Amino acid sequence: MENSKTCKKNHYQMLLILLLFACALLLMTLVSILLWGGLTPVRSTGTLSLVVRKRRDQADTMIITLSLPWYKRLPPAKPGQYLAIEAPVSNGSAPLMRCYSLARWQASPRQYQLAIKREPNGKVSNWLLDHVHQGRVIRSRVPAGHFVLSEQHDQIVLVAGGVGITPVLAMLDQLRSRRTPPKSVVFFHAARTVEQLLWFDELQNWARAIDWLDYRPCLSRPHAEWPGLRGHLDRDKLATALSGWSSAALYQCASPPLMQTVEQAARSLALPGGIDVMQEAFGVAGEGSGQWFTVNAYGKQVVVQGGLSLLGELEGQVEFPDASCRAGECGGCRIRIEHGETMQLKRPQCAIDPHYVLACCTTANSDLAISLN
Ligand code: FES
Repeated sequence: MENSKTCKKNHYQMLLILLLFACALLLMTLVSILLWGGLTPVRSTGTLSLVVRKRRDQADTMIITLSLPWYKRLPPAKPGQYLAIEAPVSNGSAPLMRCYSLARWQASPRQYQLAIKREPNGKVSNWLLDHVHQGRVIRSRVPAGHFVLSEQHDQIVLVAGGVGITPVLAMLDQLRSRRTPPKSVVFFHAARTVEQLLWFDELQNWARAIDWLDYRPCLSRPHAEWPGLRGHLDRDKLATALSGWSSAALYQCASPPLMQTVEQAARSLALPGGIDVMQEAFGVAGEGSGQWFTVNAYGKQVVVQGGLSLLGELEGQVEFPDASCRAGECGGCRIRIEHGETMQLKRPQCAIDPHYVLACCTTANSDLAISLN
């Protein structure tokens, strides 16, 4: 009897030891996964494979949240920077690439957020809207770009047109986390309808809670009860918001015509300390004619539309192996204009020789003949 009791006791002790051993093994596995996959940062250059964690749609725009597998640490991004996303639009050809400004990136829980809008001629944007879903892996370059918020300014005007809100939202996130808050920030968000005002509720809540933030959405096609600004942004709206300001830093991400109007209006206010202007115009059509032109590219005839970037129009037919930024920064889309007229959509950020243009910053204004180098 005594022997049987001792035997049972030993049996339970063995089971307990085995259980503890299994728990320790599990814990060690979890810790090693975290150390290997979670704490090691990826290189700050090169290409990322990002998992789509969430997708939310609003009007004609999708907002996606991305992270690395195992929620590995992401390369940091400055507010205003973008991701160049690859899209395998057609089988057998090299993927096309487009830049999308980061709306947010968070060190924890290690996520990027982008908003991508369906566009009438948006080969890549429309493909992404049709093919990206939760769980899909997409490839991008690490965050890049020079349109970033400076620490120096504390009287700031932010202007976004539609989905151009993304870099502005990232800037607002950073301003909210500053130890010393800015003196005043006015944010004009221009859109057609209230449905196109992304992050509208969140921004209204921020504006209620933050005394330095003045949020002014402006609708060109408002519904009857819309209480906010109506029509287009103009000098009067700017003058009212900036009344009493000594100087301003203007950051804008919108269509070139809107940015030009706002810049002229802001300069005409003649603030005593002047105005610094920083702007971004990804993937937006310029003021081109909208006409169709023929581009002779190394013996190939390609039809392009005036007002859209030559890079976007020629891609798929002409190889641009070194074009990566799509923002006039890398110089990889440099082409020589042999014949015809072009129009600049965006000021290049890198040096280029006379007779050359950056295809990502330029649109056709007549039939063209071009060559690479
Ligand atoms: S793609 Fe980089 S400058 Fe045009």
